[in-house]
Amino acid sequence: MDGIVMLTRDLSDLNREYSRSKMGCNQSSAVQSNGIKEEPAGSKQHADETEESQTLERFNKTLMTRLQAIANDPPAMPKPLVEGDPRMMLIPSLFNCEQTLAELKEKPLPADSVLIVTYLKSGTHWVWEIVKMLHKRKATADNLPKETAHMEILPPSVIKEVHGKELQEYVTHFPMWTLPSQSYSGRKLVYVYRNPKDVCVSLYYHYMAMSKANPTGFPEMPFEAFFGMFLGPPEANLMGTWFDHVADFWDNFRSNPDILCIQYEQMIKDPEGEIKRIDEHLGTKASENLLKEIAEATSFTTMKQAKAQSEKHLEIVFKGTMYRKGKVGDWKTHLNDEQNEKMEEAISAWQSKRAEPVPLMFEI
Ligand code: A3P
Repeated sequence: MDGIVMLTRDLSDLNREYSRSKMGCNQSSAVQSNGIKEEPAGSKQHADETEESQTLERFNKTLMTRLQAIANDPPAMPKPLVEGDPRMMLIPSLFNCEQTLAELKEKPLPADSVLIVTYLKSGTHWVWEIVKMLHKRKATADNLPKETAHMEILPPSVIKEVHGKELQEYVTHFPMWTLPSQSYSGRKLVYVYRNPKDVCVSLYYHYMAMSKANPTGFPEMPFEAFFGMFLGPPEANLMGTWFDHVADFWDNFRSNPDILCIQYEQMIKDPEGEIKRIDEHLGTKASENLLKEIAEATSFTTMKQAKAQSEKHLEIVFKGTMYRKGKVGDWKTHLNDEQNEKMEEAISAWQSKRAEPVPLMFEI
């Protein structure tokens, strides 16, 4: 517990340091010759930064409280998230799935909100930033970690508390079948999926970053063991299996006009084109120029740099980066022939169960 207290202090220092460095740039408001105080040009920016810094402070406190609650009363494992459905088993983690689902049953997401649904490591951060930029009509990144809008970690009521307002962009890894339909009905959704081979590799590094922060909760393991888990049963995977997640979307939700389906690989191939599709789906009516600017501002290299500071706020649970390589086909340097064969068999068996196979625009 001492470690948690120390980290709380570190995170508070980080917040103060961030606020001070930003304020130093645009703090002073000019006094005109008639003595009237003029609003400085950067005052809107200053207000946004103060709001951000307060959000971060509240986020850090919430994270600590959640970690302490888990340490005091670890959740029993494993049990189905939705009673009688073994496709997603709750396992002890930072996640707060049950409260989120209970809240979603009672109260829908705000009417003008957008929900981004993905399996882990499929491009969630990327699409979240794009949607935020489309909403604010500005191609600039904020300093907030995605986890401040992540519904498994923070239930909607807590997200509202952390941000001090209703949010317009939410993210979740909940499979579609677990989400109460009344919570998102009439809202716009974006579903993103990615080659499971690259997801598996990306998730391994994510897991190892969690292991660095919490070696007891997430014991270090070689890739081979992790690969076995990825192809294993739902209870071996944090949010159920990739196969069930994508199959459920494809079989049951793909024809819902409120849900736009995107593939990570297509985003890599034609980011501007895919951002335009998101813009059209949300009705945000961005100009061609803004679409171009957003594509640039959300490119992997720019994003990695822009979000570096925000990643420090996750160090208590994740010691690494969410912006690792951002490439298609990194699996080729990780999967050996035998693993590749196993994965391909699993994909073929899974595809053969679909009336219409899931389009996979990647080399398998
Ligand atoms: P890698 O680990 O393969 O690099 P998620 O956001 O769902 O957690 O997914 C993370 C994956 O998306 C990581 O993949 C990360 O590098 C990649 N990613 C994040 N932002 C990206 C961007 N702007 N462009 C391309 N890939 C991005």
